[in-house]
This record gives sequence, C-alpha cells and structure tokens, in this order.
Amino acid sequence: MDQTQVPLLAIAQNYLATDHAPFYMPGHKRGQGIAPALREVLGSRPFELDLPELPDIATATTEAEKLAAAAYGAERTWFLVNGSTVGIHALVLAAVAAGERILVGRNCHRATIGALVLSGAIPTYLPTAYDHGRDLDLGVTPETLATALERYPDTKAVLVVSPNYFGVCGNMAALAAIAHHQNIPLLVDAAHGAHLGFHPRLPPSALQCGADGVVHSTHKVGTACTQASMLHCQGPRIDPQRLHHAVHLLQTTSPNFLLLLSLDVSRWQLHQQGKELFSQTLALAAIARSQLSQLARIDVITPATTPTLDPTRLTVLLHALGRNGYDIDQELFSRHRVMPEMPTLTQLVFILSIGTTSQDIQRLVAGLAHLTPGGAPLDPVAPCAIPPQICSPRQAFMAEQESVPIAQAMGRTSAELLCPYPPGIPLLCPGELVTAEVLATLTAIHRAGGAIHGGSDPNLSALRVLRTAV
Ligand SMILES: Cc1ncc(COP(=O)(O)O)c(C=O)c1O
Repeated sequence: MDQTQVPLLAIAQNYLATDHAPFYMPGHKRGQGIAPALREVLGSRPFELDLPELPDIATATTEAEKLAAAAYGAERTWFLVNGSTVGIHALVLAAVAAGERILVGRNCHRATIGALVLSGAIPTYLPTAYDHGRDLDLGVTPETLATALERYPDTKAVLVVSPNYFGVCGNMAALAAIAHHQNIPLLVDAAHGAHLGFHPRLPPSALQCGADGVVHSTHKVGTACTQASMLHCQGPRIDPQRLHHAVHLLQTTSPNFLLLLSLDVSRWQLHQQGKELFSQTLALAAIARSQLSQLARIDVITPATTPTLDPTRLTVLLHALGRNGYDIDQELFSRHRVMPEMPTLTQLVFILSIGTTSQDIQRLVAGLAHLTPGGAPLDPVAPCAIPPQICSPRQAFMAEQESVPIAQAMGRTSAELLCPYPPGIPLLCPGELVTAEVLATLTAIHRAGGAIHGGSDPNLSALRVLRTAV
C-alpha cells in the first residue's frame, strides 16, 4: 500500500476548501454557532473540521485503517475514539465468553477489569516478576505462563501488558509461542507501545512478536490526540467479524473526526519518518541517562540493566535520595517548570517521544540536579500474594455493595480494584477476598505516602465490598 497517502488529511483539506451550507450535525455548524469565548481560545479551525461521519469520511476512514494495518503489520485495524480502554473491552468480548477462563497478567490496567465485567469471563491472574531493589514490575514471564497453561487447560485467552508503564516489554515472542502451542490467542494491552516496530533500536512490537490482538494508545507515545487509539488483530485465533461487532457495540456512532484524522497522520508520520524522528528521541534519552548518571543519589533504569526496556521511557529512582516522588514532582514544577508523567513513592516516570526537545531534557536534568537529599533511603513495600477469588469481577460488579471502614473490610469480598503505584500491580481486584496481608500492605503504602489508584475513597479510609456473600 502507498503509505505516503493520508486519506483523512485529504478529506480535511477538501472540506476546508469547499464552501457549503452545513445542515448536518454537530449543531455548531462548523463553528458558525460557537460561543465567541471558545473560539477565542481554540480558533475556528477545530470547529470547521468537527465533521460527522459523512459518507466520504467513512470511506476514507476505512482506507486509513487499511493503511494503519499494513504499517503495523496487522491483518485488520480499527480506529478507536475512546482510548485503549475500548479496545481492551472489545478484544476480551471477542475472545472469551461469559464463564470461560482468561489468564490475565496481574499488572493489568483497570480497563481489563472493565472488560471482565462486560464479558463475564473468569480471570485467573498471573503473577508478574518484581524487582524489589528498584520497586519495578517486570511483567509476566514465559515460565509463569507455561505453568499456568499446564494447570488450566480450559483457558480460552491470555492477556498481558507490554510495555508496562515503566517501558518494560518482557519476552513477547516467547509468550506468543507458548500460547499458540495450545492454539490460544495472546491479547496484548500495548497502550504504551504504539511506536514500537518503527525503529530498529526500539523493542519489537507485540504484533511482530506474534500477538493475536493488540491495542495501542496512539495518543500516549505516538502523536495522535488524547483518546485516539488503535486495535489490531492478526492470525486465525481471533474472529475479526466478532471483534468488529464488539468494536461497534462499544464505540459511538459519531466518532470525532479530529481524533480519526490525528490517527491517520500519526500512522503516516511513524511509517514515513519514525526512524529519523525516533533516532532523535533515542539520542535525547541517551543524553538524559548519561547526564543523570553523574548525579549523586539519583538512579535511572537503563536498557543495560533491564532487558526489553523501551529506552524512551525514563524512570528515575529516588530510593537513595530519601525523598518521595510526590514532593519532588511538586518541586520540579514549581521551581523548574518540569512536569513528569507520573510520580510514585520511589520513582518519577518521564515519557520521551518525538515531541520531546533538547531544551526539555536540559530542564529535566537541571531540575533533578538541584534536588536536595531527604532523610533515610526509601524502602519499597513489596506487593503481596494474590488474594483468593470469591466471585468473578462481573458478579462483584452486579452484586449489592456497601462501603465499610477499611479496618472492618477483612474477610469481605472487594467490589473495587486497588492498585498502588509503584509498581502498578493491583493488590486487590473486584471479587477477591480482603485479606489481612492486603490490608497491611495497603496501609503501609498509604502511610509511606504512596498513591493507591482505583478505589472510590482516595484517602483509603473506606472500601466498597459486597453486601452479602455471592
Ligand atoms: C497499561 C495501560 N493500559 C490501558 C490504558 C488505558 O488507555 P486509554 O487511556 O488510551 O484508554 C492505560 C492508560 O494509562 C494504561 O496505562
């Protein structure tokens, strides 16, 4: 296919050049009715191009999806306007029926729990490897998957995250080979991996490694607008028609044209210029790592110490500095106007991409160089054993629930997902027993100042549990 073509960009240019009276949606009529205050902030272009799914746009979107499939090496690709979240939902709905077993990496994002609620699939969670010294999740290992498949021969699909938030990809080719040996599809939440495969010094993409279904948040590391994502499939283990139905079941019938356009242009840019642009990003990442390695008490995760690391993801370790990431996050912004992607208790995560400049890197290094040390070195709190599953996430979601003080939650069945960062491995998933170990770990992380995502009470004083046993 001719990857120099950008069908949705051609459509956009055509609409800009064609004067007409718009009697179609949306009601602002290409910006004619927009409030002046909003036009002042955004200008008029975004509204002129805020178009509904007119017939030529639908045709061009199909063409753009085919180009994306070819660029990524997939058999079929869908453009998504509700993030990787909707892609994960669609994949699980297409691959596993209610009551069937799916093996799920325990470091899964809450979108996966949502998919389990929607599908009614029964998860068996796979523990991920964990590096205590760096408080780092390393993903599902091939050994763990092989053992689980031997133990659960009724498994219908496997879902893993790669790369994870810290850029660790894991051995995807081995995971695919193990799953395929049993003719089971490997589904990959590659929300952070839309750029992989477009530069030889980046880890291979999940599709290149043989994964059957892959979701990309093209907005995270590609250059698409926020929410714009892609879902890809290949091979005989996923029915593309069922996946198509799932996407259409879950997505709006009014996809935002600007999001679709940004996906098409992002594909063009990655395919046509990815190698050149990511060479610059990789060079900036190397400079940042080299300069940061000169600083006392600051450590950086490197590809040398972490095989399968995406080098564009920069995780700074603060253990030796003795200060938590939340304080430093605030200081970096207030004093140096540097904003990390994510502070954790013991780390700061910075996303580098083709939009990153050398000035940004200078600021980042200067900001970290000015940090003064705190008290004692930080000691990570390791994730605990996966608690027993009392019921499926769907049953937990549908059951009557109540909020109880956290101290009284032991022995109850959780209705919530609680996931501390780091290392981004949920301690508790919906349908699981609240154990003493979980409560002790949650409390220790909270006391140390760690953030626990996913719960309804951010202060962690209460937990939603099932009202009665299922
Ligand atoms: C690993 C992972 N999967 C899925 C998602 C959801 O992606 P999106 O925001 O595109 O829906 C995220 C978002 O941060 C994520 O980190």
